[in-house]
Amino acid sequence: MNSERIKTLASFTSKDDIVLDVGCDHGYLSIYLKKNNLVCDVYASEISPKALEGAQNNFQKYNVKIKTFLSDGFKDIPVSFNTAVIAGMGTNTIIDILNNEHIPPKLIIDTHNEQAKLRNFLNNLGYALEKEVVIYEKGHYYNIMLFGKGHQKLKKKEILFGISNNQEYYLYLLNKNKELLKKVPLTKKIKLLYENHLLKGLTEKK
Ligand SMILES: C[S@@+](CC[C@H](N)C(=O)[O-])C[C@H]1O[C@@H](n2cnc3c(N)ncnc32)[C@H](O)[C@@H]1O
Repeated sequence: MNSERIKTLASFTSKDDIVLDVGCDHGYLSIYLKKNNLVCDVYASEISPKALEGAQNNFQKYNVKIKTFLSDGFKDIPVSFNTAVIAGMGTNTIIDILNNEHIPPKLIIDTHNEQAKLRNFLNNLGYALEKEVVIYEKGHYYNIMLFGKGHQKLKKKEILFGISNNQEYYLYLLNKNKELLKKVPLTKKIKLLYENHLLKGLTEKK
């Protein structure tokens, strides 16, 4: 529960937030928010009955009162909330969840793939990327992003690589692209070369 990722997700919340922890699984984020009194209130939801039962057991174990809901995304949530945390899922699942009329004005998102697609989707939906922190934990990079309601047109390089300004992460992407360049066909090479060009601009010391 003391993971850097959970703490970073929690650091994006504030006292006025009524949070829905979508896909709470073990419920560790919800517990962390409640125990540390970080938000106005927190609800936890799951699509999986088994995972929800696990969360409920943990809530008992850690002695926190958190209302839970069995729901696919926002579909069966009978309470109102102004913030959703959607973490630890892939971009396509997150987009499915966000294709709903009841999206709250504040979103805290950690997707483990296709971050550019997610940034682009939310920008087009009228959400602004306000903050992004990339952390490295257990051999993986995690992009933790905060979106708020608002008009914004992110630049191409911001869509592709985010706004974290984490130089180690950019270098990791650059090296990954270099490796891919050796393997992919010519048509994809052009796209990667363009991305490398943008990444070099972000990593070169000014
Ligand atoms: C890898 S866990 C992440 C748990 C936690 N959010 C975290 O970041 O540590 C992903 C969880 O999302 C749940 N999930 C997947 N699709 C969902 C959906 N459409 N609505 C609600 N929960 C979903 C899964 O059942 C699973 O427990």
